[in-house]
Amino acid sequence: MTKDGKYIALVTGAVGGLGTDMCKQLADDGFFVIANYRTQNKADIWQQEMKAQGYDFAMAKADVANYDEVGAMVEQIEKEHGTVDVLVNNAGITRDGAFRKMSYENWDAVLKSNLYSVFNCCHHVVSHMLQQNYGRIINISSVNAQRAQFGQVNYAAAKAGMHGFSKTLAIEVANKGITVNTISPGYIGTDMVMAVAQEYRDKIVQTIPVGRLGGTWEVAHLVSFLASKEASFITGANVAINGGQHVF
Ligand code: CAA
Repeated sequence: MTKDGKYIALVTGAVGGLGTDMCKQLADDGFFVIANYRTQNKADIWQQEMKAQGYDFAMAKADVANYDEVGAMVEQIEKEHGTVDVLVNNAGITRDGAFRKMSYENWDAVLKSNLYSVFNCCHHVVSHMLQQNYGRIINISSVNAQRAQFGQVNYAAAKAGMHGFSKTLAIEVANKGITVNTISPGYIGTDMVMAVAQEYRDKIVQTIPVGRLGGTWEVAHLVSFLASKEASFITGANVAINGGQHVF
């Protein structure tokens, strides 16, 4: 919490499609937002854009795939601002390709950025959450961890692993005021989704009953709700937000 009593929310991979709207929504809802990033130039441009829109986010650099970098980042955040109350594990990458052509590097990179990152960030913030008897951890998974998607063995393994992680951590810390949940977005209008070749993307959109890609703002509202004090009885859940593409 900050000295003036605001809950501190750390959003990883903030400088991206989903992350940007999460940061804005959390700030609109009264959180002190810290935007994690990996690439300096991109982050500098983003920060200026955000300032122009009236958002003055604190920035924190670390490659979340790297345990020690995350440790140093969290230490710096605690020194400058206070302890992290809300952690949104949003950073993630894709390296799509049919399994028979998938390189070890593309397997490894996706597992490290999308799943090891969750361990790295949670491990560095959870002890303070336990001490203060309060915390919110939100892991951003994917509909493609719940259903099958050609070309995403690496991504599906990492994103499904994320929810296994959420469920177990949720019950380990439930009596300490900490909730741990997964959100599984479907196809949202981000650069990541727009990078899918149009012939494949068009076919995918046809399988979404709502009839369109999701909006980043729609995911951001859900994140902010799970980050709120009022969401205290929701833990170990996997909340789908996919326009009906996968119902179960
Ligand atoms: N279903 C069935 N067969 C498919 C296929 C599919 N979706 N895609 C390709 N194939 C077939 C090809 O036709 C080809 O067949 P033949 O060998 O008989 O000719 C074979 O599989 C292998 O083809 P390639 O390896 O050359 O495939 P490609 O390079 O053309 O396409 C791919 C592979 C790039 C993974 C492509 O399928 C693709 O982009 N799929 C979409 C992946 C996707 O949805 N990614 C989501 C990214 S966004 C995200 O992940 C966010 C989120 O959480 C939702």
